[in-house]
This record gives sequence, structure tokens and C-alpha cells, in this order.
Amino acid sequence: MTRLAIIGTGYVGLTTGVCFAHLGHEVVCADTDADKVARLSRGEVPIVEHRLDELLVEGLHKGNLRFVVGGAAAVTDAEIVFLCVPTPQGEDGSADLSYVEAACAEIAKSLAYEAIVVNKSTVPVGSTRVVERVLRRPDVRVVSNPEFLREGSAVDDFLRPDRVVVGCEDRAAGIAVAALYDEIRPPVLITDPASAETIKYAANAFLATKLSFVNAIAAICEGVGADVDDVMVGIGYDKRIGSEYLRPGPGWGGSCFGKDSRALLNIATEAGYEFDLLAGVIAVNDEQFDRVTDKIRVAAGGSLGGKTVAVWGLTFKARTDDLRDSPAIAIINRLIAAGATVRAFDPTVNAAKPGLPGDLTISPDAIGAIVGADVLAVLTEWDDFRWIAPADVAAAMPGRSVVDGRNLLDRTAWQHAGFTLVGIGR
Ligand code: UDX
Repeated sequence: MTRLAIIGTGYVGLTTGVCFAHLGHEVVCADTDADKVARLSRGEVPIVEHRLDELLVEGLHKGNLRFVVGGAAAVTDAEIVFLCVPTPQGEDGSADLSYVEAACAEIAKSLAYEAIVVNKSTVPVGSTRVVERVLRRPDVRVVSNPEFLREGSAVDDFLRPDRVVVGCEDRAAGIAVAALYDEIRPPVLITDPASAETIKYAANAFLATKLSFVNAIAAICEGVGADVDDVMVGIGYDKRIGSEYLRPGPGWGGSCFGKDSRALLNIATEAGYEFDLLAGVIAVNDEQFDRVTDKIRVAAGGSLGGKTVAVWGLTFKARTDDLRDSPAIAIINRLIAAGATVRAFDPTVNAAKPGLPGDLTISPDAIGAIVGADVLAVLTEWDDFRWIAPADVAAAMPGRSVVDGRNLLDRTAWQHAGFTLVGIGR
């Protein structure tokens, strides 16, 4: 059992805190938002994330998980302190370290003698040094331990990681951080801080590259009459390629990929390398939003002016309530700009949610969204949509065109009900 403090209770911090408590450590989580701290202390999870509520309540009951306001209050007894504050995109595309610096300045004087401070936020290469400089505590060792959590399965990803990466100059400090994961016996890579930080960016950039590649192949499939879903099964059998992460879609999004890809472009330029490949990956993704918008335009009869488009799905993927960098929002903005009226439904989004386009109408259910619609577009792969009977849609929607941006719906059943269904890459 190790005494831990977690600074920041966003996605990463909260998952890290409750999972370490689940593994038996003594955890204090800090946030600057007093209201959030009060809610978490009552066992209320502010985000949609599978199993997070169960483990939060477990930690509160066992008594080894607490929430406090402010980092200084959390760290006084901690042997290891995790920085899990946001690193948003700065104006020039590089990561903005101001939250990390502010958190360090706040905890510097309160840290226990010889504590270890761990960067878990995605930080630019070299940030270990920034943390050391702001802390000004020669007795404190700084370690990098990047996270690879996917929203929607963050708890399982934490408890069954593909690997744990630890970057350190002081090997003993790195081993102490790696030992926190002993119970789950993951593969552990201990390396230097710059390599650990680069691993995080390289992993996300590689995954984004894989997805832009899939969407590019999907575009070619449309031209040559191939079916991208079969093509992906066919290449996925090759162990060097792997069968995961090959689903075509309306483009990739979420809180990490866009931000981290652009940050890595900046890091590369500063390191003296123009990363044209990654710039192309980002450009292909932006084009994918345009391509899906065009499919909806064609399905609407060639023009979007005065047309009504129903959208199923707003979040950047299913099993999350997160709208950050959502392809659905990027496409809806294009539809509205082209003169369409858009009505949307998403199982986790109501009209009060921040981040929605101003001219968008939110429907409380899937069928409500299609009333009066010329076209239906599926933009998030929620399972709920898969089970809606095409006949019910046919009865409520005047149009007969569906653009399935996730290749989610049963083509035969929808065609049978009289719909023209256009997917991605087939
Ligand atoms: C990602 C990384 O997976 C994770 O390791 C990192 O720590 C944070 O960023 P997340 O943002 O939760 O996680 O989303 P992810 O599941 O990776 O999906 C990202 C985007 O790619 C989504 O828009 C998703 O819909 C899309 N996607 C994913 C596809 O279009 N096809 C796929 O096969 C997989």
C-alpha cells in the first residue's frame, strides 16, 4: 500500500484515483472545483464511464479514497503525487502547460520530503524538466507515466493495460511508480523521460494514422466497387497489421487525437523535422468530414438548402458523453452552414450540454429526431440505433435516404423497408 495524491479529477485523474484505490493504495484526489469535490465525495460520477461509479463507491466505503479541494491539502502525506491536470492546445497548436505549472507551484511547498511527482497528463517532451524547475525541490524526483486510457473503457484499460510506461532519470523512483501496478502484473517499460513522453505522442499519432489510412482506403473502395469492411477483415488477419482499430467512420475525434497530433507536429518542427506524414493524416481526417457532408448532400437530392437532416449520434464515439472534437459536431456545423435544418438525438446528450452548435435542435428520442426529415445520418455507433426497426422510421420520416457514417445499420433490413442506404467505403 502506498499513499498517493492525484491532482485533477478529470477523466484521467478520476480513473487513476479510483483504480489505484481499487488496487489497495491510500488515495487522496484533489480538484479546484469545490462542487465537484462534494459530488465525488457523495459517490456521484460527473461523466459517463463504465464501472467508474462502482469503483468510486467501493473506495469511499473501504475508506481508502478521499476527495479534497486544492492540491496542497492532498499532498502533505503522499509518497507519490500524480499530476492529472489538462494540457489543452495552445494558440499555436503546441500543448499549453499552464495548468501543470500552476499545480506544481501550488503543491511545491507542501510535498513531503523525497516525494515522487508523476506526470500523467500528456505533456510535451521535456516537461519533466519544466516540473522540476517549477517545484524547485531538489529532494523531489519527477517521473513520467503516460496514460493510454480510452474513454468508455478507461477502468478496464487501467486495470488490464497493454503496458505501463515509466520515464525516469532516477531508476529507484521509476521502480517505485511501476510497483504501484504490481497487483495487475502488466508488461512494464522503464525508460528515460523523453522516451516515455514520446511514446505517448507516437502511440496516438500512429492510431490516428491507422484510422486516416482506413478512411482513405474506404474512399478508394467506393471508387472501385470494393467493400471496405471485408478489406479490413482481410488485412487485419495479417498479424503485423492487427485486426483492431480498423473501423471506417466519419473521421476520428475525441479529446486526445486532434490535440496530440497537432502538438506532435509542433514538437517535430522544433526538433528540426517536418512531419508531412502526420500533417497528411490530419488533412485526410478533415476531408472525411467534408466527404460525409457531401454524402448527406447527395442523399438530400444535391442541395442542403431548406432540407431537414436528422442526425443519430453526437458524441465522438459510443459509450461516452464526450463531445470534444466530435466528428458529428464537425459535420453538423457543415450541414447548418450549407442551409440545412438539423435535428439530432444522442442517448447521452441533452440540449443544455455545452459544446453544441447554436442552431441545432436536440430531440429527446431517436424517432422524434426523424419527424419531417429528408435524410437520416448516423454519426455515432451507439448500439441503440442498430435495434430501431426500419419500418418505424419509414412510418415517421418522409425521406427515404439514410447515410450510415459508421456502417452500423443492417443494410438488407433497411433496403427491404424501402430506404436507400449509403455507408462508408462500400
Ligand atoms: C484515445 C486513445 O485510444 C487512448 O489510448 C488515449 O489515451 C486517448 O485517446 P479515446 O479518445 O478515448 O482514446 O478514443 P478512441 O477509442 O481511441 O477513438 C478515437 C476516435 O477514433 C473516435 O472518434 C472513434 O470513433 C474513432 N475510431 C476508433 C474509428 O473511427 N475506428 C476505429 O476502429 C476506432
